[in-house]
Amino acid sequence: MAEKIVLAYSGGLDTSVAAHWLRVERGYEVHCLTVDLGNLGDVEGARRRAEEAGAAGMDVVDAKSDFLKYFVFPALGANVTYEGRYPLATALGRPLIAKLLVDKAREIGATAVAHGCTGKGNDQVRLDVGVGTLAPDLKIVGTTREHSIARDEALAYAAKNGISVRQTVASPYSTDENLWGRSVEAGILEDPWQQPPEDVYDWTKPLDQTPAQPTVVEIRFEKGVPVALDGEALGPVELVSRLSDLGGQHGIGRIDMVENRLVGIKSREIYESPAAVILLEAHRVLEELTLTKQQVRLKNIIAQEYADLIYNGLWFTAHHRDIAQYVASTQRHVTGDVKMRLWHGTVMTVGRRAEASLYEAALATYNKAGDLFDQSHAQGFIKLHGLPAQIQAQRQMLIDTPDLLRLAAPEE
Ligand code: ARG
Repeated sequence: MAEKIVLAYSGGLDTSVAAHWLRVERGYEVHCLTVDLGNLGDVEGARRRAEEAGAAGMDVVDAKSDFLKYFVFPALGANVTYEGRYPLATALGRPLIAKLLVDKAREIGATAVAHGCTGKGNDQVRLDVGVGTLAPDLKIVGTTREHSIARDEALAYAAKNGISVRQTVASPYSTDENLWGRSVEAGILEDPWQQPPEDVYDWTKPLDQTPAQPTVVEIRFEKGVPVALDGEALGPVELVSRLSDLGGQHGIGRIDMVENRLVGIKSREIYESPAAVILLEAHRVLEELTLTKQQVRLKNIIAQEYADLIYNGLWFTAHHRDIAQYVASTQRHVTGDVKMRLWHGTVMTVGRRAEASLYEAALATYNKAGDLFDQSHAQGFIKLHGLPAQIQAQRQMLIDTPDLLRLAAPEE
């Protein structure tokens, strides 16, 4: 009897060809698994192609809510972006897909799982490491890595083997989508000097088509997790989808960057992440109000470590659990509301409040009435604060660096 394999299946040309190839060339009984992270395309077409490819079945798992609750929101709590910009939508989805592949494999007694990731990217690493961590006994077949065929060859393969592909012109880009964002690479984008043609974008309006009037949206967080928009309590999927649409209407969330892949390649990427860009900003703003300087500083350092481990496919690790527990602990008082103005591609904070805010108006005020800050204490405090600099200037600096105007430009 044929061994069973679970294939991560989008239902497009490449994974349909992969399903056929795994069956015919590798002798597997192929079970297709389509994971819905908010990116479902033509499910009926996918089902038909799975059948035509001779797959034993196709399952669709709705993982949208788990994706946001267990993957995206913890990352949001940490203010994670890769290399300062990419909100990691694709990278956050992969460990969940790995987990669901393993669950399915266990359920049906499969001995292997398969994916169609390219051999030059990060996604193969995330899926392989994820599956390998959760189920070291399962074999992993990277169909594209092991059977690389070009687009026209794939079309010919499909035609020859009775797999129907739509006759529309295929996208010139490689894309990946989920609720947290859309990633686009390849084609003309491979030249980093080329301005992205407008057809790269799908979720965000060009600035000349965005509304003339701004939208102000009020976002409520509880313990660092977004829970309501404009006073209306919403589940994670509804909340993120609505913000994504709204932000997209205002042209928010376009990111054009060259990033460092784990496999050592620099690659030019276009992202559209309206909800992520808005929520990351709002969350950071609420932390300004509710965390101390030291907490914010350590969190910023940790955010970089956290981003790398997500990007590099190390989600299921103890290092991650330790970091996540620290971050979760910092979120206890990150509860409150942020008012954001969306307009012409920008997101601007225009107000914030929190139940356990550390902002004390009676200390900050420049008005006399109600002032709690005793300015007579300032003098002594400043004296002590400046003491080491004063001594060092007298004993060293004024001797080695007589021209203090050029202190920061010694080589001029
Ligand atoms: N560079 C991004 C990452 O590594 C996006 C990858 C996009 N994947 C794709 N199949 N087009 O997370």
